[in-house]
Amino acid sequence: MQYKELSKDKLLHEKELLQSKFDELLLKKLSLDMSRGKPNSEQLDISAAIFANIDCYTKRVYKDNFDLGNYGLFSGTTEAKELFSELLDIEIEKIIIGGNSSLHLMYDMFSHLMLFGNQDSEKPWCKLEKVKFLCPTPGYDRHFAICERLGIEMIPVSINEFGPDMDYVESLVKEDESIKGIWCVPLYSNPDGFSYSNDTVKRLANMKTKASDFRIFWDNAYAVHHIYPNKEDSIENIIDLCEKYNNPNRVYMFTSTSKISFPGSGISAICSSVDNIADIMERMKYQTIGYDKLNMLRHVIAFKNKEGVLAHMNNLAAVIRPKFEIVLKQLEIEITPLNIAKWNSPAGGYFISFYAMNGCAKRIVELCQKAGVKLTPAGATYPYRNDPNDSNIRIAPTYPSNSDLQMAMEVFVICVKLASVEKILGE
Ligand SMILES: Cc1ncc(COP(=O)(O)O)c(C=O)c1O
Repeated sequence: MQYKELSKDKLLHEKELLQSKFDELLLKKLSLDMSRGKPNSEQLDISAAIFANIDCYTKRVYKDNFDLGNYGLFSGTTEAKELFSELLDIEIEKIIIGGNSSLHLMYDMFSHLMLFGNQDSEKPWCKLEKVKFLCPTPGYDRHFAICERLGIEMIPVSINEFGPDMDYVESLVKEDESIKGIWCVPLYSNPDGFSYSNDTVKRLANMKTKASDFRIFWDNAYAVHHIYPNKEDSIENIIDLCEKYNNPNRVYMFTSTSKISFPGSGISAICSSVDNIADIMERMKYQTIGYDKLNMLRHVIAFKNKEGVLAHMNNLAAVIRPKFEIVLKQLEIEITPLNIAKWNSPAGGYFISFYAMNGCAKRIVELCQKAGVKLTPAGATYPYRNDPNDSNIRIAPTYPSNSDLQMAMEVFVICVKLASVEKILGE
């Protein structure tokens, strides 16, 4: 049964059935949350088990010949840099280890650019009449919030399974000097789960930009967050490519262990050209005498090396995988036959991106809310919270228990159906 092919009478009848199902849901007084990409307690238990007996206090001097319990060594410990170096295939000279949040590093980097510009800027960005940033959409709401907070005009760019629409990106950046950069989540993008193609990465590294101080914010938050063994996406090393194409300072890469060890208690990193690293350190020395090196040590002891991280990520994936399958199965059974929506089946990351019929996303989120299922607000995945099609909903399956998720998805599909029938009926 495809909704759009039903007669008005049949649709009205379907609506009545759905409304009574919805009313039954209301009686259950549910309180379920599919709104944010947070690990569940089972994942945290797996991480806790490998951190539980770590002693980072008795022995505190390692390769840096430095007491890690003390002030100093503000670009991070050699061992922590080696860990990220191995994971990301980047030389340790191009890495700074930060504190517990990569988002913090991103906000900080932006503030720095606003206040001082970078080596290639004529003036600080805040002294310019206008600063614009390209925002592949749908995207990560907190990236957009940074731009909004700092008064940067966001230009939406559509994204597909190969990455941002590069023809559009290239055409914009070559003409407009006020476009200073682009946000990218290149591997398992938030929320679509897309991984950029090699061609996209090359074009980003190589494109001509009118702004000489153009920067790519390369948020590699999901660098090792595969869901299915033997189905891992990978991306080209953009730092190397920028160097190859003679734009060595173009990219700042960010990452963290937030969804490897503990959100809020992990370690983060910023990786870039040697020149950019020097520029960042010059600024950072006014901000801190050093981040938490004992936490860097704990992470190095816990994971040891790339192999250790990947083995741990496999264990986490075993917990996450069934959750993605619950969502996808429910959508497949309940929504596919009706031909009223589409969605992605990503091979990694934390989200499933759902595209309702145009004009339905807000209504679906509202209905879910009434029935006790919290979703990311409709529009949140777009600059200025404005989804022009009112279609995209970010489903975050990781946090609820499997039984809660099953229940939440049963509610979700009823709300999708109800909102779609209302829409087709023109209500
Ligand atoms: C794309 C992306 N970047 C950054 C973050 C936050 O990272 P951190 O915890 O390191 O600040 C998230 C968290 O959901 C994310 O999805």
